[in-house]
Amino acid sequence: MIRSVISGIGSYVPPKAVTNDDLAKLMTTSHEWIQTRSGIEERRFADEGVYCSDLALEASKKAIEDAGITKDDVDFIILATLSPDHHFPGTGCALQDKLGIGPVGALDVRNQCTGFLYSLTVADALVRTGAYKNILVVGAEVHSSALNFTDEGRSVAVLFGDGAAAVIVSPSEEEDRGVLYTELHAEGKYAKALHLDIWDISRKPYLTAEDLEKGQHWPAMDGGTVFKHAIIRLVEVVEHTLEKNGFTKEDVKYVIPHQANMRINQFVADKLKMPREKFLHNMQKYGNTTAASIPLLLDETYRQGMLNRGDLLLLVGFGAGFTWGSALLRW
Ligand code: UT7
Repeated sequence: MIRSVISGIGSYVPPKAVTNDDLAKLMTTSHEWIQTRSGIEERRFADEGVYCSDLALEASKKAIEDAGITKDDVDFIILATLSPDHHFPGTGCALQDKLGIGPVGALDVRNQCTGFLYSLTVADALVRTGAYKNILVVGAEVHSSALNFTDEGRSVAVLFGDGAAAVIVSPSEEEDRGVLYTELHAEGKYAKALHLDIWDISRKPYLTAEDLEKGQHWPAMDGGTVFKHAIIRLVEVVEHTLEKNGFTKEDVKYVIPHQANMRINQFVADKLKMPREKFLHNMQKYGNTTAASIPLLLDETYRQGMLNRGDLLLLVGFGAGFTWGSALLRW
């Protein structure tokens, strides 16, 4: 049986660090509020002129190098983002062009905070069919251009950061290694709990100057509703993933959760009666990088030498859509 493995990994964040105190100069907020409510202390913001595909490119180069392949060995691209370079064409196409590789397929995935898990699931399935050997899977975001840094937008603006992370997904003959299982969910009836109002393609024209005046181009979130559902679904998906695969909570070396809110992840750990230390975090430094958040944390954990061959890792995420899911990996 062919399994898919992560054969290379890399990440990139823009150099500009923005602290909570920096944000407090732009709006009525404080380090204390942001840190205690979310766990976030700073985030990275890309400079003007930097595209999502630029961050994706830097992360991709590192993943390709880590896999010991060349860019020309990449035979398919999957790019997850909620902040694409443009509405169309897809940002995967821009990444392909910037990488300077041949006419391999490029698929954009638009599943927000669960985007990496959706992308990994697709890559895993494509590799196991034998169709592809080195799929580049990237999560990348430039949130900083689309956040409202005034009091009106403060409940969302303080949470998000820019960044990218990439993996190469390749076949392996080792049965007990790699992507063991993935699980994906969506519940579209909660779309309005975290969304962007414009544009609305049912309207003619779909975008007006009045929309901008009303601030409908800023993301809107009902934080409490997202928080409540995130906890329920994350607990559920951890329990189901382990049970379905015959593992116990003790078998898991680390949970690599989406980095939206420290309190969400601690609450989930407590509810599951798992040690909080098993749930890893780096949102303190990067905030919520949506599609990049899970692979960014995975890459950092790997670079810090915390992963050994054979470790069981559980990746979980929840976000807009609502969407949520898991991936069980044997490193
Ligand atoms: O990755 C996508 C998924 N997203 C998430 O998982 C986010 C889930 N939700 C959350 O993380 C939390 O709901 C937040 C961190 C967004 C908010 O925490 P909260 O404890 O639910 O605060 P709240 O929304 O209930 O707001 C409490 C107060 C409000 O003031 P009043 O009405 O009590 O006077 C807000 O207006 O805090 C106020 N507030 C702020 N104060 C200072 C909201 N944003 C800020 C801010 N600084 N940035």
